[in-house]
Amino acid sequence: MRIDKYLANMNVGSRKEVHQLIKKGVVAVNGKTVKTPKEKINENDVVTVNGEEIAYQKYHYFLLNKPKGVLSATEDRSQKTVISLLDSQDQYLPVGRLDKDTTGLLLLTNDGQLNHELLAPNKHVAKVYRAQITGVADEETAKTFASGMTLGDGTKLKPAKLKILKQDKENDTSEIEIEISEGKYHQIKRMFGAVGMKVTALDRRSMGNLHLPADLKRGKYVELSLDEVKNIK
Ligand code: URA
Repeated sequence: MRIDKYLANMNVGSRKEVHQLIKKGVVAVNGKTVKTPKEKINENDVVTVNGEEIAYQKYHYFLLNKPKGVLSATEDRSQKTVISLLDSQDQYLPVGRLDKDTTGLLLLTNDGQLNHELLAPNKHVAKVYRAQITGVADEETAKTFASGMTLGDGTKLKPAKLKILKQDKENDTSEIEIEISEGKYHQIKRMFGAVGMKVTALDRRSMGNLHLPADLKRGKYVELSLDEVKNIK
C-alpha cells in the first residue's frame, strides 16, 4: 500500500495533510525519511510520524457531531453524506440514522460486526436528545410518553422519558430532553406529532455512556477506542 493511503486510513489526516507531513520530512519507514507519497510499505514496516509509531489498526470508530443537511448514508447522487465528512472513507458506515435535519452524536465505523451488534433490536441502547418543540409539553405529555404509546399507524413504542426544560406559553413553544431506547423511523417527530406538537430542532446528545463532547464542533469528529465503543451499554 502507498504510504499516503496508509496514513490517511490510519486517520493521521486527509491525503492532503499527509502529503504536507511527507513534504515536511516528518514521516519515516523503518527509520528512513519518506521522500514521496508514492512510496510503498508492507505489513512488517514500522511507520512513524514525528517519531511516533503509527501502528496498523483494521477497525476505526468515530463519534461525529452531525451537522444539519447531511444524509446518514454512505453515498448519494446529489446530497452530501455523513461519510463524506471523514478524511478516510473506505468502507465506513453510520451506526443507525439521524434524519437529514437532525444534529448531534452519530457513530461511524468500518467494523461491520460491531455496527450490526449495536443496531440489533434487543440492544436497547438509551439515546438522549434535546429538542425545540412547537406546543407546550407538560406532565401529561411526559405521562403519555412514559406509558409506551401507540402511534397512529399502530407502531407500539417502548416507554420514553421526557424532561421539560423550558415552557413558553406565550409563544407556544417548549424545550425538552427525551430518552428513547429504540430507533424507529422519525420516532421523536412522530411521538410529538401524535400529541399535536411539532419538533422544530432535534439534537442527539448521548448514546448509552457516550456523550457528545461539548467542544466538538458540528461536522467534526473524534476517534474512539474499541473499549469506549464496547462500553456504550
Ligand atoms: N427521532 C426522529 O424523529 N429523528 C431522528 O433523527 C432521530 C430520532
